[in-house]
Amino acid sequence: MTDLFSALGDGAGSLKTRREEIAPGAALLRGQLGEQQDAVLAAVQAVTAQTAFRQMQTPGGQSMSVATSSCGALGWVTDRKGYRYVSQDPLTGQPWPEMPAVLHAFARAAAAEAGYPGFDPDSCLINRYAPGVKMGLHQDRDEVDFTQPIVSLSLGIPAVFLWGGLTRTGPVRRIALHHGDVVVWGGPSRLVFHGIAPLKAAVHPATGEVRINLTFRRAGG
Ligand code: SIN
Ligand code: FE2
Repeated sequence: MTDLFSALGDGAGSLKTRREEIAPGAALLRGQLGEQQDAVLAAVQAVTAQTAFRQMQTPGGQSMSVATSSCGALGWVTDRKGYRYVSQDPLTGQPWPEMPAVLHAFARAAAAEAGYPGFDPDSCLINRYAPGVKMGLHQDRDEVDFTQPIVSLSLGIPAVFLWGGLTRTGPVRRIALHHGDVVVWGGPSRLVFHGIAPLKAAVHPATGEVRINLTFRRAGG
């Protein structure tokens, strides 16, 4: 909530926010898990037990190094036909698992904290990064409505988030992300190029040797 409370320590659970502006419309919220940590991790485990991590193919035919899964009404997929959102998991032919309420509520609260009240995500992409895995600079632009922000939660081992500009070229900032950190971007930053630098090997008690990223989006209208 306020710097005063975080200066007093974040043991209080709900008084946990330290918010930094990255750029207009974009905020970094550090250490957001608090007492929800176990429920968030259990929810991720429940989803990925139903719909396994897989390495999808890019339209160019390469295998993504990041392993992904999804929950919510829509899941982001890529294959030879391109990038898009679909309502069924291509691996199972079934609808994606429902987005667990704890994840939806977490994303909604983080968006509100960053200045986007009323966020109602219908998609949560679950990315798993092993050491050495990266995600190249890209824009999130497969969603219908760019007035809706992106909410991205980091779990497990640290990563370096690459924050570029509205064009592919130009300076890129490197922002260290740790377990429980959230990046929210929308408004004038909604189409900023971003990515993840190659992950360094590490171990985290919550996830072992990997980083998990949850990206919440309003993908449909
Ligand atoms: C993404 O941009 O899709 C993922 C970013 C991240 O892993 O933090
Ligand atoms: Fe992205």
